[in-house]
Amino acid sequence: MHKISKILISISFTITNFFYAEEYLTKPPIVPIYLDEPPSRKTNNNPIETFNLSANTYSPQEFYTKYTWPTIKPRVEPDDHGWFVNAAQLRLLLNNKQLLIVELGSWLGSSTRFILNHAQNATVIAVDHWLGSTEHYADSEFHIKLATLYETFLVNCWDYKHRLIPLRTTTLQGLEEIYIHNLHPDLVYVDASHDYDAVLSDLEKIYQLFPSTVIAGDDWMWNSVRAAVCDFASKYEFSIQASKNFWQLQK
Ligand SMILES: C[S@@+](CC[C@H](N)C(=O)[O-])C[C@H]1O[C@@H](n2cnc3c(N)ncnc32)[C@H](O)[C@@H]1O
Repeated sequence: MHKISKILISISFTITNFFYAEEYLTKPPIVPIYLDEPPSRKTNNNPIETFNLSANTYSPQEFYTKYTWPTIKPRVEPDDHGWFVNAAQLRLLLNNKQLLIVELGSWLGSSTRFILNHAQNATVIAVDHWLGSTEHYADSEFHIKLATLYETFLVNCWDYKHRLIPLRTTTLQGLEEIYIHNLHPDLVYVDASHDYDAVLSDLEKIYQLFPSTVIAGDDWMWNSVRAAVCDFASKYEFSIQASKNFWQLQK
């Protein structure tokens, strides 16, 4: 499609949203999260000792009442685009005993809905700033989706809103927000940035805050992701099970 047409479509989506989903759009685009005590930047082999946020600052209930859905469904078309190719492997990690699953990087909700369908008693917290990743800006097919990425995610996942919480912030702040509300995920599925440092930071933060959670993710075929997962595993003595694009850490 011609570049100017794409820009026009993007502008028209934004205007449509503005007029028809004012309730949602009056909310800040990114949940501001202020932490009195930022976690220590120090790293060593005992992550718990270096972390100084309090897990009991707020109750889980406060979290659930803070992050509610808009009452009006955004007026955007559903879009089932996504990169989810790990159904067979992730299916083995999901069950009806899980109560809380965190997904880092949800895009339009393809993997999110799979998790919700196969962990039917779980609440899923989808952490994403819904700004897209670096590679999405470089490709016009994905770039065009960014203008209404979050609204389309909401529409795609509308039927699950009773047990899905979109947490619109960075992965690191989202994990801290979950932690200070005394919430402990059974599983964290990692599929946000593919940048080496970002993946390593995501993994270190997950392990600092939730040392006993199951950690798995996407994009084993990306060199940067694989290197970060391998370096993390070797530093904290995890073994890795990988199959196609899927990876999982094990103690
Ligand atoms: C590859 S997409 C996720 C794909 C999705 N899981 C699926 O299967 O279709 C990566 C997502 O991570 C989000 N993202 C990237 N870096 C992030 C960060 N530092 N914090 C929060 N979200 C981030 C992007 O906005 C994007 O929606």
